[in-house]
Amino acid sequence: MSAAKHEKKIEVLRDKIRHHEYRYYALDDPEISDAEFDQLMNELIKLETEHPALITTDSPTQRVGGQPREGVVKAPHSSPMLSLDNTYNLDDLRDWERRVHELSGRKDVDYVCELKLDGMSLALIYENGKLVRGITRGDGSVGEDVTLNVRTVRSIPLSISKEKLRASGIPADFEVRGEMLMPIAAFKRMNVEREEKGLSLFANPRNATAGTVRQLDASITAERRLDYFSYALLKDGRTYFDRHWKTLGALDAAGFKVNSSRKLAKDFDEVWKFIEHEETRREKLPYEIDGIVVKVDRTALQDELGYTGKAPRWAIAYKYAARSGITQIEDILVQVGRTGKLTPVAALKPVPIGGTTVSRATLHNMDEIERLGVKIGDFVEVERGGDVIPKVTRVIDDKQHPRGHKLFHMPEKCPVCGTKVVRTEGEVDYRCVNANCPAKLRETILHFASRGVMNIEGMGDALVNQLTERGLVKNVADIYRLSKDNLLSLERVGDKSAANVLDEIEASKKLPLERVIYGLGIRMVGERTAQFLAEHFGSMDDLMDASEEELQNVTEVGPRIANSIVEFFREPSNRKLMDRLRSSGLTFTGKKKERGTKLAGKTFVLTGTLTRPRDLVKKALEDAGGRVAGSVSKKTDYVVAGADAGSKLDKANELGVRVISEKEMDELLAG
Ligand code: IVH
Repeated sequence: MSAAKHEKKIEVLRDKIRHHEYRYYALDDPEISDAEFDQLMNELIKLETEHPALITTDSPTQRVGGQPREGVVKAPHSSPMLSLDNTYNLDDLRDWERRVHELSGRKDVDYVCELKLDGMSLALIYENGKLVRGITRGDGSVGEDVTLNVRTVRSIPLSISKEKLRASGIPADFEVRGEMLMPIAAFKRMNVEREEKGLSLFANPRNATAGTVRQLDASITAERRLDYFSYALLKDGRTYFDRHWKTLGALDAAGFKVNSSRKLAKDFDEVWKFIEHEETRREKLPYEIDGIVVKVDRTALQDELGYTGKAPRWAIAYKYAARSGITQIEDILVQVGRTGKLTPVAALKPVPIGGTTVSRATLHNMDEIERLGVKIGDFVEVERGGDVIPKVTRVIDDKQHPRGHKLFHMPEKCPVCGTKVVRTEGEVDYRCVNANCPAKLRETILHFASRGVMNIEGMGDALVNQLTERGLVKNVADIYRLSKDNLLSLERVGDKSAANVLDEIEASKKLPLERVIYGLGIRMVGERTAQFLAEHFGSMDDLMDASEEELQNVTEVGPRIANSIVEFFREPSNRKLMDRLRSSGLTFTGKKKERGTKLAGKTFVLTGTLTRPRDLVKKALEDAGGRVAGSVSKKTDYVVAGADAGSKLDKANELGVRVISEKEMDELLAG
């Protein structure tokens, strides 16, 4: 095929992928399955790997990865990124409306109402229809350049076609402003994984968003599904269209994600109706909002109203009642999790917060209790965000709220099984080390049966409690020996639900190897790691017999995870468990990702700017049997240095590690 033909083929494929990304990420309305999408993407990656010269910066493959930023780069804003004044009640909102009337001298003002999304604001600069820069708000005049991270967010188009620009009336050079956020589900998943890896947790989706966007390594941003809603369009630092409502419509038409909960309100009553209506929907949203933003629709009128200090007079935030409350800690209890981790939980005097009664709140760990200075009997502020578990945020100490006196100590014995509790040197958490602790069992079974794992619907709290308490399930393998009579002997289980659960159990046997690996609940083996393990070994047997050394050849598996896996399979009871799962017919084999042997045993470190995206290079090296590490050590065989290589290059020279160019690396790959 001629070069021109390849180019054409690649461009057609890119357009197809862009279309499906838009359907999936911007409209939430996919036309094809995830697998079909992956297939298209893989096809493109393959073509681009074969023809690296044809890679363009706006190719969908260029979202993943990118070079880690060596440091923070500042970027000025075209015009200040302002904040909003807040109101908390109807009267103050009416006052704002009155001021708008007075200052403008008119009463027939149209307003646009939008959700106030709880993330971080971010500017996107497009030149000639292509995304060239993403900038955080920073101090409002100067932000941080986070372009590489922004490019990984699928709801942000990397380019806008000429047709879309024409249809939407947007000029070729423009700036979009909007809110970056992390959906609650992604936030929870991320914290679970962080916990499994012994990393500190993010307090809420907003912090997680900020932490992720400012990440220096874009491949990490790419994994943590962020989302972006746009709400402003500027040209040369000024609002482009004459009405805000038109701006939202145009952004939508150009392929940006615009929140569908929005309203053009003809009068104040309509504004208020929107505010009240959206509050009832708040709990059901997949992301967090903290209020409604009301904006004057006409740009001319906005200009007339102008700004006060840091906020426009033409817009206002109506904040919903904080989803926090003050109550007293009656006791501090200890919960035992799947990994044996002991979590202190505050038993609260019940308090209504945002429509539900809260009587428990997590205190995370002993360090957090010390940081907050919490004692039993204290009055505390409790916060509830989305469907995240409520948490204690601070101790109240004033005349109406006298301090409590009773100090909390971590129990020396597990509150469930009585085994001695251990805190490993250097770790935050206390753990019950009894492998057969009933609390662990309960949580292990719940994890195994949960949706992202073996997906056994109907096997929730109520059922698992009974199954474990009655000794019908003593490990995950017992799930596959349950009979209908077993289930019927339980409370609140009828003929139909017993049959359903058995069907679900049967269906779970067909789930792929990575799910089974994830379901075992091996410490530090989260969803992603399980996937990499399955792809690397292609069978449970090979995984079970792998040495720590071999395990460390798997993507993202370091010494700690490798050790945890080896320990798990060394345990005779776990070996027996595996035999039983196998004979029950669970999936023990998968598709091994074929890897070459050309570079087997060789460790590479990449540094500087390479001509291809880092993820593609990494993949090529790994596919040839090599390993790509993050930092240079004596064990490194080659450092591949691109343009502007920094400290890693110095380190390589210092340690006498061989430094090669990207071209030399290609020669090694070509063999
Ligand atoms: S408009 C001058 N619209 O709220 C216009 N902001 O408190 C200012 N925010 O920094 C921004 N949702 O991060 C606007 N629909 C929305 C918003 C929104 C969330 C955030 C934004 C801003 C902060 C101001």
